[in-house]
Amino acid sequence: MTNSASDLSDINRLLGAIDDVGRDRANGGWSRHLFDGAERELRTWFTEEAGRRGLAVETDRNANLWAWWPEPGPDAVVTGSHLDSVPGGGPYDGPLGIAAAFAAVGRLRERGFVPERPLAIVAFAEEEGTRFGLPCLGSGLMTGSINADLARRARDSEGTTLADAVAAAGLAPSELGADPQTLGRIGRFVELHVEQGRALADRDRPLAIAGSILGHGRWRFGFRGQGNHAGATGMDDRSDPALPAAELVLAARRIAKSVPGARATVGRLHPRPGGTNVIASAVDAWLDARAATDTQVRGLVEQISAAAEHAAAEEGCSLDVVEESFAEAVHLDSALSWRLGATIGDVPRLDSGAGHDAGVLCGHVPTAMMFVRNPTGVSHSPEEWAEPDDRAAGAAALADVLAELAGPTEV
Ligand code: GLV
Ligand code: MN
Ligand code: MN
Repeated sequence: MTNSASDLSDINRLLGAIDDVGRDRANGGWSRHLFDGAERELRTWFTEEAGRRGLAVETDRNANLWAWWPEPGPDAVVTGSHLDSVPGGGPYDGPLGIAAAFAAVGRLRERGFVPERPLAIVAFAEEEGTRFGLPCLGSGLMTGSINADLARRARDSEGTTLADAVAAAGLAPSELGADPQTLGRIGRFVELHVEQGRALADRDRPLAIAGSILGHGRWRFGFRGQGNHAGATGMDDRSDPALPAAELVLAARRIAKSVPGARATVGRLHPRPGGTNVIASAVDAWLDARAATDTQVRGLVEQISAAAEHAAAEEGCSLDVVEESFAEAVHLDSALSWRLGATIGDVPRLDSGAGHDAGVLCGHVPTAMMFVRNPTGVSHSPEEWAEPDDRAAGAAALADVLAELAGPTEV
């Protein structure tokens, strides 16, 4: 299929329309978190764009948004991604897959394509887990991989529970949880995503198909010590939880480097009460650890925890480690990925260090992913990027894939 001018303008117009939503011009980046003003604006955008294309919109029990062509039904071909972002993230992690889906549907309508099985665009809720700490919240609740009782009690930084946030959004908290009916409608799932590294830029290729996703999880390290005066307390007379927290950061780097392909990051540290002239009484720090196998992830976390435990004991502090989430390493469906390759041509296969709703769906329905080149190789940061021509190439490829999967040639 060739890119027409309308392909180019449609996906870029769609993304241009939301470019200011949640954008922090002073500090840089986009912040769009579950049910905040920006994320609600994106939900409205989703609903309006669906309406423009004659798609039927519904919100499921777990706050995931769906747009159906022509209407909900079994064995559906589903594509989509997420609308939310990390704090100060890039513009395309999530929205690129949704905009590409709308552009692809528009393109198929222009071609006069009539789907033989239902086609849907989905925006999964809270993929980044920024507000409630539970990544892939919407897809995880739907599939049952996230426990609904735990999720209902999860709190954001203001102390609001997910149950209250969901109720404020007009949904029933009691309805959160495994949704076999909604899941059961999905025949195949394909997620298009901006690449989050620079493999495609290095290879001078615009598109790729995903191979596997690293196993990954999040752990909260709660260090407790003795709050005290920064000037009046002698250096040998302290139980400062910032010390073992610092060792956690260093151990994460040191230990992850000893396991090929592994990653460990402490991206969030919260000293309390947080005064320059105050020795903290508590530090909470969050470890994100990833590796090719679940055993490697568990091994990493065990070693890093032991190093943090040792440092805490040396400083006279206590440490409590809580696993907040864990996603097993997955291989995307090889038959479906092969079919994507046969449809869009010979493109590179890339493994993903980032997590995705596709990784959650993968254990339940045939699932595949496509990546669009990111020339900066940077993601979860304002510098994340995809060139307009590459976005259009992604949307065009997705249109071909949807036509192949939902069309009359299916065997
Ligand atoms: C989501 O982008 C993740 O990998 O954390
Ligand atoms: Mn992300
Ligand atoms: Mn994403």
